[in-house]
Amino acid sequence: MTAGSWMRTLTRSSFVPILVVLVFSGIVIQQQVFLLRQRVENLEMALGVERAATRSSGSLLNPKPAQAPLVIYNRVPKTGSTSFMGVAYDLCTKNSFHVLHINTTKNSHVLSLPDQARLVHNITEWVEKRPAIYHGHLAYVDFNRFGVADPPIYINIVRRPLDRMVSYYYFLRYGDDFRPHLKRRKKGDKMTFDECVESGLQECDPKNLWLQIPFFCGHAAACWEPGNAWALEQAKHNLVHNYFLVGVTEELEDFVAILEYALPSFFKGAQQQLIDGNKGHLRKTSNKTTPSARTVVAIQSSEVWRMENEFYEFVLENFHAVKRRALVLQSNSDDEADATLTRDRVPEIMAEVGQKFHFEKIRPK
Ligand SMILES: *[C@@H]1O[C@H](CO)[C@@H](O)[C@H](O)[C@H]1NC(C)=O
Ligand SMILES: *[C@@H]1O[C@H](CO)[C@@H](O)[C@H](O)[C@H]1NC(C)=O
Ligand SMILES: *[C@@H]1O[C@H](CO)[C@@H](O)[C@H](O)[C@H]1NC(C)=O
Repeated sequence: MTAGSWMRTLTRSSFVPILVVLVFSGIVIQQQVFLLRQRVENLEMALGVERAATRSSGSLLNPKPAQAPLVIYNRVPKTGSTSFMGVAYDLCTKNSFHVLHINTTKNSHVLSLPDQARLVHNITEWVEKRPAIYHGHLAYVDFNRFGVADPPIYINIVRRPLDRMVSYYYFLRYGDDFRPHLKRRKKGDKMTFDECVESGLQECDPKNLWLQIPFFCGHAAACWEPGNAWALEQAKHNLVHNYFLVGVTEELEDFVAILEYALPSFFKGAQQQLIDGNKGHLRKTSNKTTPSARTVVAIQSSEVWRMENEFYEFVLENFHAVKRRALVLQSNSDDEADATLTRDRVPEIMAEVGQKFHFEKIRPK
């Protein structure tokens, strides 16, 4: 067979089926390309809608009116939080905001990740309960980690660490004058704090002081390791960057005064309310005895106390700076700074320094 006749045979016998196959697969490919194009178009449309939605929910060019604000007070146990929340509950009707308690099962201070997500979702999406103050014995939850557009305002109060521990110790035994008939966990136990420390009991281990640092540090594992140096730094970081205001139990009136001027939509009238309600609100742990000098030395020699105290002092210094810039005594404004730092003064309303900025050169006219 010559080359020419071979070609002819092939053409005749195979060309038609090959052509059919080629044409058919061409149709299939075209169809698939068409479907893919459609999919891409659908996706682009969905994306466009989403982009538009993002724009309308607040970008620099097209801002949405701000949502009513949320405040979270993740209160540390035995820091005067009940007195403070009494003021908030007294004011909520007059100042038109909601107050909600976050009750965690078994009083746990930390939540699982899914539970944090639920909490963040519920708090930010519950529009009928805005504006609101949420309070609960819960470690700091970083709302930004959950992709929330408008995270709440955090506030808190800390107390001298040993005072807080002693207060808690007696609270478990004798309760307080707030709910005197509630049965406490250690009711009937007459051991004093001094005796407890002397006997080296678990309950009075300085490790138990490790509470204010983890509350400010948050949910990371290291936050809850007593003595962890990173946790102390993180607590300071959150205090400065993620808390609006943190006061101290020892100067509760000034904390309330600053809030009255800095967040008036919630706290207008709060100072007067604290004074009026003091009898009702000041919650005193019953039968608390001051620890002996020996006990104080024993506790203060621990590393955990040193770190918790460092954190407390950091908060205190920061709070005093905020106070000096914001408040004046109404009577004499000359030595305002000293006057505001005096403890045990008679209850009185503090005035505000006032606005020290204004806008100008506003263009275009
Ligand atoms: C939290 O809820 C539990 C169960 O309903 C209740 O027993 C407890 O008293 C609540 N805690 C507070 C502080 O109200
Ligand atoms: C909280 O969120 C869950 C869904 O995660 C929802 O079922 C529930 O109704 C929400 N509760 C409130 C009070 O918004
Ligand atoms: C408190 O202490 C006093 C005197 O030590 C005692 O008489 C009283 O019973 C104590 N109160 C309680 C609730 O145990």
